[in-house]
Amino acid sequence: MSENSSKIKFYSGEDIPLELHKVRVVQKLHLVPIERRLEALYEAGFNTFRLDTKDVFLDMLTDSGTNALSDRQMGAMMIADDAYAGSQSFVRYQKAVEEVLGKKYLLPVHQGRAAENIISNAYIRKGSIVPMNYHFTTAMAHITQYGGKIEELLYDEAYVINSKHPFKGNMNLEKLEKCINKHGAANIPYIRMEASTNLIGGQPFSIENFRGVRAIADKYKIRLVLDASLLGENAWLVKQREEEFKDSSMAEIILTMTGLADLVYFSARKLSSSRGGGICTNDYAIMKELEPLVPLFEGFLTYGGMSVREIEAIAVGLYETLDEGMICQSPQFIEYLVNSLDKKGVPMVTPAGVLGAHVNAMEVCAHIPQSEYPAGALAAAFFLISGIRGMERGSVSNQRDEYGNETYADMELLRLAVPRRVFTLSQIKYVEDRMTWLYDNRNLIGGLKFVYEPPVLRFFMGGLEPINDWPQQLMAKFREDFGDSL
Ligand code: F0G
Repeated sequence: MSENSSKIKFYSGEDIPLELHKVRVVQKLHLVPIERRLEALYEAGFNTFRLDTKDVFLDMLTDSGTNALSDRQMGAMMIADDAYAGSQSFVRYQKAVEEVLGKKYLLPVHQGRAAENIISNAYIRKGSIVPMNYHFTTAMAHITQYGGKIEELLYDEAYVINSKHPFKGNMNLEKLEKCINKHGAANIPYIRMEASTNLIGGQPFSIENFRGVRAIADKYKIRLVLDASLLGENAWLVKQREEEFKDSSMAEIILTMTGLADLVYFSARKLSSSRGGGICTNDYAIMKELEPLVPLFEGFLTYGGMSVREIEAIAVGLYETLDEGMICQSPQFIEYLVNSLDKKGVPMVTPAGVLGAHVNAMEVCAHIPQSEYPAGALAAAFFLISGIRGMERGSVSNQRDEYGNETYADMELLRLAVPRRVFTLSQIKYVEDRMTWLYDNRNLIGGLKFVYEPPVLRFFMGGLEPINDWPQQLMAKFREDFGDSL
């Protein structure tokens, strides 16, 4: 039993995710009245990305760049080596990548999508096909920008919202072989596997499945790329859910996973609770193919568009990813929130995944057609009645097809991100309380329509408006039930 074995039992039998850290730096939050929240929503075009944090109470938009930094990360940032070239901060980053991810060549990039740009630039041509377990918005946008297409090859189980399947992120191996035979290996520059598959609810894949993907990649001589942005949590869930690894250390599990991929890239905004990103490999030829693109798009090869302080924070953060007591915190809070809402009848994605709790907007807002964006409407309504900012992960986040038609999402989800070591349990209980109230009043939520729609990644800056005065009616009901409470 290691010091950091992750579940602490309570005498009372209650299932409580005990924090294994203490809070030493705090930031004051503001919970503004619902009347101001309504104004803020109109100002933000009913798009939670466009809200100003002065109007937000709990920011559950994302864990990207919002996880709490550790004291050791902050300390390392103070001793960073400022140099355009040959910085010792980069040497420490390289060492951490070699020790934690097992890859000796490291190309630094300013964040995850910068890695996606470089990999797509190097390998995607018109007509290329990239099979993947599931897309992530930016990964798909870069592949399609360079003329490629994606194929999502999950098992049917992944789309079952209420499930007990431990590895919904698994790649469907039969579909993968069929896809390769259909398009021809020559048209498939790489297979992409995403750890803790983000858009289906932060759902992991198993190492057994990843080994299967590796075998197929070997058979057809296709590169295997791992998006490791959420690798730590996927590895932790492998330890919880995959028999073969129940006694393995995080270090062993992570090295086993990265060892199966030819090329690993990540958003350090997620993986190491800092900022920045990286691409790493043990394959000299791959490194040489990508290397010239780093100075072109990012910056010199020892900083890649990042500040040296962030580079120091990544290096320390990578080692901290191996600490079960750290990595378990967010998934355990999420599990607590998902299970308590599930018990109250709120439709949630189960089993609880990582990154955040995911509410099934398709069911909560069953009265809102997909053309009126049920997940976007739920995100707006939830902010209105709670001050909590979640993220739409449904059709608003999808891109139109090449003919300009809407492509409706497989799932309409409201994601409530739980960044690592940021919130307290009473704040999580507030989330539960307000979501339960909203669920009981769900018939008051109405649809949205676009009034401004950017051509690429429209969900970031797009503007919407409610189809009628439902926000005013929802606010009136809130006042009726909560009196003058914020
Ligand atoms: N891959 C995955 C799996 C991601 O979740 C993200 C970002 C990226 C790549 C892109 O990385 O933001 O550093 O450029 N996910 C964030 C989110 C934005 O909120 O889920 P980035």
